[in-house]
Amino acid sequence: MNVRHFLTLLDFTPAELQRLMQRAIELKAMQKRGVIYEPLKNKVLGMVFEKSSTRTRVSFEAAMAQFGGHAIFLSPRDTQLGRGEPIEDTARVLSRMVDVIMIRTFEHEKIETFAAHSQVPVINALTDLHHPCQLLADMQTFIEQRGELRGKTVAWIGDGNNMCNSYIDAARQFDFQLRIACPSGYDPNPAVLHAAGGRCTLERDPLRAAKGADLVVTDVWASMGQEQEHAQRARSFASYQVNAEIMACARADALFMHCLPAHRGEEVSADVIDGPHSIVWDEAENRLHAQKALLEFLLSPASA
Ligand code: CP
Ligand code: NVA
Repeated sequence: MNVRHFLTLLDFTPAELQRLMQRAIELKAMQKRGVIYEPLKNKVLGMVFEKSSTRTRVSFEAAMAQFGGHAIFLSPRDTQLGRGEPIEDTARVLSRMVDVIMIRTFEHEKIETFAAHSQVPVINALTDLHHPCQLLADMQTFIEQRGELRGKTVAWIGDGNNMCNSYIDAARQFDFQLRIACPSGYDPNPAVLHAAGGRCTLERDPLRAAKGADLVVTDVWASMGQEQEHAQRARSFASYQVNAEIMACARADALFMHCLPAHRGEEVSADVIDGPHSIVWDEAENRLHAQKALLEFLLSPASA
């Protein structure tokens, strides 16, 4: 089916992503000026959440409301998805009723199957493999602060998880160098890493990874679905906390980001996340603006 989806950052070209970033910044400025802009009047977003969410749900729902459209929250507990209706059938049915669908689920293959059977654009709102919407917000936030990503150095410290995999894709698409430091056994997806070639390096020493970095990023040590591994992971990741010692290795003006929710005292110390390098609140807010740009692009490409 000839419809654009956003399952990973690689679904868009680097030029499209750059335009999306500029549009997100414009839409943010428009909102701050109090401009009413409703390009998605009468459009409906279906939101399938198989995992918890605060930021993703609220930012998508607010985006649709501000754009003059509507969003429907769907959880497996209250839909036939939770009772085993095939994903293909759900995709066929939902996509005949709504204009765009976002999904947060476990296996990445599930969202690929859904998209293959959907007549309307499907947005990845987090799978076990990727979290591309968060990367739109992160890239926008960095661009707002520093102008551009090209040629910059980003250090990813911690788990080689969905966020890390999407950072690897971002390094390719936005042309920056990514240094990943994670403990052995917690590496990012090998295929994703391999495809990035020389854009990304993997090592075990977080201090070396952070050296001279323009941006330091981390995420939880146990992602959703890994709660039972929490104690083991806390031991494995003990020397990977982003703290003042790590930030001291980075550039003096280095920024710190975290997709949130955060665990102070685990993957990040309180003095870093609540300190002068941290831009996590702008990063969280930009979920709204970046996803507005994404929705506009997918639903009214001529104006985006
Ligand atoms: N960062 C992020 O996706 O947050 P939520 O899980 O609250 O949506
Ligand atoms: N890696 C985290 C991100 C949460 C937004 C998770 O998957 O739980």
